[in-house]
Amino acid sequence: MLDQSNITIDVHLDNQDPKAVRDEIRAGLLSTPRRLPTKYFYDDRGSALFEQICTLPEYYPTRTEHQLLKTVADDVIARTRAEELVELGSGAATKTRVLLDAMARTNRLRSYVPFDFSESIVRRVAHELVEEYEGLRVHGVVGDFLAHLEHIPRGGRRLVVFLGGTIGNLEPAAAATFLSSVADEMDRGDFFLLGVQLITDVDRLEAAYNDSAGLSAAFNKNMLSVLKVVIGAEFDPDHFDHVARFNQDELQIEMHLRSVCRQVIPIPELELTLRLEEGEEILTEISRKFTRHHVEAMLTRAGFTPLGWYTDPAHLHGLALAQKPSG
Ligand code: SAH
Ligand code: TRP
Repeated sequence: MLDQSNITIDVHLDNQDPKAVRDEIRAGLLSTPRRLPTKYFYDDRGSALFEQICTLPEYYPTRTEHQLLKTVADDVIARTRAEELVELGSGAATKTRVLLDAMARTNRLRSYVPFDFSESIVRRVAHELVEEYEGLRVHGVVGDFLAHLEHIPRGGRRLVVFLGGTIGNLEPAAAATFLSSVADEMDRGDFFLLGVQLITDVDRLEAAYNDSAGLSAAFNKNMLSVLKVVIGAEFDPDHFDHVARFNQDELQIEMHLRSVCRQVIPIPELELTLRLEEGEEILTEISRKFTRHHVEAMLTRAGFTPLGWYTDPAHLHGLALAQKPSG
């Protein structure tokens, strides 16, 4: 029997200013290089496609982080003695179970706060987890972690986690601002666990974003369907190719949609007629790769004290444990 009394879900996405949405998309499409906001990957179909990507043989980050968490979860929970787990960009929360299990083993598991802007996934995860963990309270927050962190409920002894290397999807300045905001929202003494993808060989990196099953392409192109809903733009997905390349200077994978032909796309809601040349690219996402040194410097600058570093034997993924200083 499902006990709904253990679930609270707050939704903070209703008040999106339509003009701000239009201005952001328009400015991106007109910038050089052209780009689109990454957040439009994740409607229900996008979230489902990303879950499938996570199971692909080529997409090693999820598997590697999952394995790594299994190895280190007990240590993390022993060091933090966390009672509440807050997860930013929680998605399907598959790997989260490893941390919840470790908390349950110490009899300290009280509550879980999934924070994601996909409402359906937050609701699904909340229902799954109260069934799986006896007595667990789930307080889901549906919102933008770049704008709504203040809505994270106050809790007991908290561990905030940001997994999957999602930090790499933010530009350096945005990542720095985001990490400082996370630190500001945390109580003194709370802990933070950050998952990052590490720099490895280009072939492996590029294969992870160019899978043979075509799911990466479908995920990238899904943004075009989302934009139809958001701003009524009639992009034809068949007129674009998925392109993902590693940029050696910036140490990031860059995802593009490349126009396969010369095309004219009227977007009345933006008062814009988009003209694309054959081969012209629109940047949809960056996925930055890090070193331990880089990660610890970012954490320190944001006001955290780095406490620990975990990595897998092949050094593909890192987990940095940090604390908001108590004094
Ligand atoms: N943590 C999961 C999912 C990573 S995918 C994992 O490691 O596998 C990134 C997740 O972050 C998606 O679920 C997406 O919906 C969410 N997300 C991306 N940008 C966001 C934002 N600005 N605010 C809230 N959630 C965001
Ligand atoms: N957050 C994921 C990452 O950086 C996003 C991602 C994975 C992605 N595969 C993709 C984006 C393919 C576009 C296309 O790893």
